[in-house]
Amino acid sequence: MLSNSIKEATKSAHQQLEVVVVKKLKAIRSHADYADLLKHFYSYFSTVEKTIAPYITTEVLPDYSQRRTSIYLKQDIEALGFSTQELPAAQAPEINSTIEALGALYVMEGSIMGGKIIVQMLEKGGITNGVSFFSGYGENTGRMWGAFTEVMNHHAPTEADEQKAIHAANETFSRFGDVFTSSLVANS
Ligand code: HEM
Repeated sequence: MLSNSIKEATKSAHQQLEVVVVKKLKAIRSHADYADLLKHFYSYFSTVEKTIAPYITTEVLPDYSQRRTSIYLKQDIEALGFSTQELPAAQAPEINSTIEALGALYVMEGSIMGGKIIVQMLEKGGITNGVSFFSGYGENTGRMWGAFTEVMNHHAPTEADEQKAIHAANETFSRFGDVFTSSLVANS
């Protein structure tokens, strides 16, 4: 089943990204620092969302409009008193099918799974504002994740489909890592 194979096959990419994000989290000393981290997430997630939009229709994922998309990240940045006018440059992975789009979305939806830990780390640093994205779906997080993985599995009946989703997910992790070494550009 894809939900099992993709977890295993992206484990190393997840760990690599986690190291980068944890380092950033530990260096947060102010709302400006936290807003800067959110800008990395917003720049990348909004770019990837545009790329997957033609494939993630309401037919594919009926509850997409209820999910934590980059709109929440933008709201969090603004709640902290900052704007999205200037953002780190971001490049989306290449996506040419629904199953690849679901592989990319797996990475973005999955970021909410570690969100609880992120919120706790922020709290320790005195930050409790602008956490709507990382707070995820609260007590519904497990249910929302289950609904998503069910859709993903349904769209990957063959081994070839699974490989496409896994490749897209690994690319999605890897390109996100690049954002943390990119320079600022005007938001278009
Ligand atoms: C501080 C940084 C992070 C920590 C500590 C962290 C931690 C975790 C933990 C503990 C889980 C398992 C949750 C569970 O099964 O209940 C998880 C799952 C996941 N995380 Fe992260 N994470 C971090 C950042 C990220 C980021 C930035 C992304 C993607 C952009 C991401 C993508 C995922 C995915 C896709 C899963 C689901 C794995 C699966 O069950 O298939 N994580 N993370």
